[in-house]
Amino acid sequence: MPHFPLWLGTAVLGLFALPLAAQRTHVAGLIGEPPDTSNWPHPAAPDGNLFPRSTASPTDIARRDRIAELGKVLFWDEQVSTSNTMACGTCHAPRAGGTDDRLGAVHANGNFGSFGVIRQSDTGSIDYGFQVNPSTDVSRQVTPVTAPTMIGAYMFERLFWDSRAGIEFHDDFGNPIPNFTDWAALEDLAVGPPANDVEMGHESLTWLGGHLQAKLNRSYPLALVDPSTIPPDVQWMTTAYATYDAIFDKVFHWHPQFGGMQGVTRERFALALAHYHRTLIPDQAPIDRGTLTPAQIHGFHLMETRGDCFRCHSATSAPALGPNGTVDPFDNLFSDGLEHDIDLPGQGRRKTPTLRNLGLHRKFFSTGHGSDGISNVFVLTHQDLIDFYNHQPGRLGFDPPLSPSEQADVLDFLLNGLTDPRVAAETFPFDRPQLYSELHPFGANLYGAATPGPSGFLAQILADVPPKVPTAPTPDWFKVGVGNTVRFAAATLMLGSAPDVGPVAWVSSVFALIPATTNNEGIATVQQPVVLTPALIGIPIFCQWEIDDYGMPTFSDAAQVVPY
Ligand code: HEC
Ligand code: HEC
Repeated sequence: MPHFPLWLGTAVLGLFALPLAAQRTHVAGLIGEPPDTSNWPHPAAPDGNLFPRSTASPTDIARRDRIAELGKVLFWDEQVSTSNTMACGTCHAPRAGGTDDRLGAVHANGNFGSFGVIRQSDTGSIDYGFQVNPSTDVSRQVTPVTAPTMIGAYMFERLFWDSRAGIEFHDDFGNPIPNFTDWAALEDLAVGPPANDVEMGHESLTWLGGHLQAKLNRSYPLALVDPSTIPPDVQWMTTAYATYDAIFDKVFHWHPQFGGMQGVTRERFALALAHYHRTLIPDQAPIDRGTLTPAQIHGFHLMETRGDCFRCHSATSAPALGPNGTVDPFDNLFSDGLEHDIDLPGQGRRKTPTLRNLGLHRKFFSTGHGSDGISNVFVLTHQDLIDFYNHQPGRLGFDPPLSPSEQADVLDFLLNGLTDPRVAAETFPFDRPQLYSELHPFGANLYGAATPGPSGFLAQILADVPPKVPTAPTPDWFKVGVGNTVRFAAATLMLGSAPDVGPVAWVSSVFALIPATTNNEGIATVQQPVVLTPALIGIPIFCQWEIDDYGMPTFSDAAQVVPY
């Protein structure tokens, strides 16, 4: 792909100069050079990121592929979250086009976001106790916007709905890191979720404090996933029987900037995930392969003639279908990468999302739902999308509005013409392991019902952390908590080897009674209630709390946990 040296100049002149350079220039972000895509399907790299594909030697390419493979493993490893319950991929599923298809997560602001972790905090020891979030109580927290896709995100110079990540990769103090001062949004973004106390982290848990590195250093890659589902290209990492510190050194030891024997570092983590993202190139949809149907081609043209859709949903502002019905790969994203206000109720300026793989989404817009264009409606259909744009005034929508058959053609193009079958089927490079949390969904291990005490609370057991028998001499993060109960009360965690039928007692054959005290939020946490040894693998443990509710014993619901 040619770079346009003039392009930097036209960017400074702003939008007026765009038609000049519009022929096939990548205009996303308006700063800097387009990423090097000259050697697709290998990862493109930002200028200065040490890995310009076009000049890379076979050794460099092999090294870069190892980094990308490490990123793939990290993206799908729930151990990146502090409670081993969330992977990046939990919120970014290829089968949903790289978005989150878990429904029902409503943020206090009314948007449909993504479920994160139950709020947890630093208690001064290495482990963290559960805590209350004022809006979600002791339930899982929810992100304030919906998760956009990571597939194709390497084409964006800035990331997030409000473009706050990029263009530089910053260190922990906010200073740009040398060689990562352009096209480094992916690196900049990647270090965020593990430390974010809604998404994957806990309060007070930081890269700066070394907590995240320490936990990963001692973890075995993908130890939580179903081993039979580990993609072939990354199996070398799991069959090496080495913890992440050794794998990181193997992959990065030679690196001029981040080399040596340092194990897991924030920068290496960022590079690995960014490299992985740069391998996720969704370029085998019907529009790339020349297999659009006449109806889909009609839909494409309606978006250009009856609407002004490609003003924002294109890198070129006027994409043209080639003679065989394909589109320039620089239009890979169907987005200009810039923020616009499209009059979505309650929303302001948002980065134009890619339209690629839209047909796989279950949630739409940054709000996570469809809209009738007048008021938000809590339905999630593709027809709502088209209705929204069919009723937008002037240059924002279809003018005059589309007839039903025209709507059908536009929808056919949007939902089918842009879908890469490898994304839909989760095949290479979009393949991935089955997550532990997908086999054991949040809350599926709970049973029984709480009994109300004099205070009226229904105590809730918190037992979502998978009890993983440690494979190395490492503190594990297994904990059981209780929430939504009396403050400063005596509480007892009962562990039994059998379930009971309740009510009141939901566990029997009790073998341990562990005392605790609830805090000022009515929460108690017991860290490592059972010393996990290999002999316990596969043997279920049944847990329930008894709380002293002003002198009266009251009981929580119960949970079954199975060490693995
Ligand atoms: C709890 C769900 C959740 C988890 C876990 C999560 N994300 Fe996200 N991701 C989101 C949400 C929500 C956004 C949008 C946030 C915003 O715009 O403010 C997002 C945005 C992104 C984007 C930006 C896409 C764009 O076009 O702007 C990328 C890339 C991304 N995440 C990658 C990752 C990586 C890498 C990880 C793991 C280190 C991760 N995510 C973990 C929910 C999640
Ligand atoms: C002025 C720029 C602009 C124009 C013109 C525009 N869009 Fe959009 N579009 C956006 C932005 C920005 C969003 C994201 C808004 C949000 O989520 O808050 C969006 C979102 C979408 C989505 C939802 C994507 C998703 O992942 O949820 C679809 C579908 C869409 N647009 C189709 C169209 C069609 C069809 C047209 C032409 C009729 C069009 N757009 C015109 C900027 C634009």
